[in-house]
Amino acid sequence: MSRDFLQSITRLRSGYIVRVKIKSRKSTFLRCNAGGRLFPIVVWSLVGCLLLLQLCSFTYQRNVQSGGTHLSISQQTQFRELEEVEKENIQLPPPRKRSPRAAKRKPKRPTTLIDEFLDESSPLRRVFFPGQRTVVDPRKNYGNDTYYYRPGRMWLDTEGNPIQAHGGGILYDSRTKMYYWYGEYKDGPTYHAHKKGAARVDVIGVSCYSSKDLWTWKNEGIVLAAEEKNETHDLHKSNVLERPKVIYNEKTGKYVMWMHIDDANYTKASVGVAISDFPTGPFNYLYSKRPHGYDSRDMTLFKDDDGVAYLVYSSDKNSELHIGPLNKDYVDVTETMRRILVGQHREAPVLFKHQGTYYMITSGCTSWSPNEALAHASESIMGPWETIGNPCIGGNKNFRLTTFFAQSTFVLPLSGLPGLFIFMADRWNRADLRDSRYVWLPLTVGRPLDRPIEYNFGFPLWSRVSIYWHKKWRLPYRR
Ligand code: GAL
Repeated sequence: MSRDFLQSITRLRSGYIVRVKIKSRKSTFLRCNAGGRLFPIVVWSLVGCLLLLQLCSFTYQRNVQSGGTHLSISQQTQFRELEEVEKENIQLPPPRKRSPRAAKRKPKRPTTLIDEFLDESSPLRRVFFPGQRTVVDPRKNYGNDTYYYRPGRMWLDTEGNPIQAHGGGILYDSRTKMYYWYGEYKDGPTYHAHKKGAARVDVIGVSCYSSKDLWTWKNEGIVLAAEEKNETHDLHKSNVLERPKVIYNEKTGKYVMWMHIDDANYTKASVGVAISDFPTGPFNYLYSKRPHGYDSRDMTLFKDDDGVAYLVYSSDKNSELHIGPLNKDYVDVTETMRRILVGQHREAPVLFKHQGTYYMITSGCTSWSPNEALAHASESIMGPWETIGNPCIGGNKNFRLTTFFAQSTFVLPLSGLPGLFIFMADRWNRADLRDSRYVWLPLTVGRPLDRPIEYNFGFPLWSRVSIYWHKKWRLPYRR
């Protein structure tokens, strides 16, 4: 019997995956026993199994939709508020006047919101990059309106200066019970090193901000500074230092920073490593290398529950991602590496885990211009990874096709709120990179997928990863 029917039923997270492959090679068994007693037993067992699993799957979805079993009723209500779909209705400005000759030469295609976003002279610019008057300022008393994240608005630190932590990531440090936000300090002029090169700001360094509440951020200064004089140094200001991420190594007691190190033309394509005894630095720069001998551009780190940390980077000219564990003290990669999302041309990877499943969000490769995010999932961190679709919900179609006019940089789990994460993204202002904005939004895991994946027999293979657009929102326990 087992030669004809191969059933593999795998329990996954709290949902179930069912793989029922029925080999339809001409079955001698079926032919010999078609009229026999065994045939109905096999069929009914199979039907029973499927019904049972359907029931389990249904119960799982119910559980998930009610916000999981660990949340209080009030938290569940607040959780649901974050999952409300908020629409954006931004009117496009009337088409600009063109001379009849220009109109004849090149007929005008309809303008989209994305064109307006990219057009530095567009009157809609202020919608995406609101001015000083709307800043989020932790020094002000907002009364009941405090702790609100307002994606895209200027965000000040506790001294009243705009936060400079682009392409960043957050470390929760259990020793100091503080959050530390590290990022690119870009408070310098934007220019083009070459006519066709991407807009850039000279390297100034990696900034660090500390917070207890994830809203009020104190500037801890530059924790890894650029090199001013030595032109051969990786950190020379004429080079590129992007997407710094910091994790803590319990074994060595060191805070370890990894970052994308490059030259102005993005041909060095390496990772750099720095360490410190304190979360607030100073970090001591160790070296750079091409991990596993491959080019490496956008990158991130992920530390798993078992203490093993991984480096994920865009490679082979950004056509694929590579993932591999770091060594025990986190200052180097090991020999193990897997090529993932091969040929998918993804960058800006961020990785997180929920109920034993690994999730990743990536962007497409369009430099500072926004594009569509995709979510990916895997049972094992080393893959295989499956692409499960665009996680963005709300706003409007253009918002969803541009990751809310931003690019992923980190996903922060929130202790005590299983299934809720903060999705952190950068709304790059390529005309003035220092004025790039932060788009932080609630990310939840657990809704069923919009489109069923092929051959899943109606069972949810992966939970849906959803990032909800909100003009303003706050964390459930901030009330
Ligand atoms: C983006 C990348 C950024 C930066 C930029 C430069 O695609 O995610 O980190 O490298 O390109 O053009």
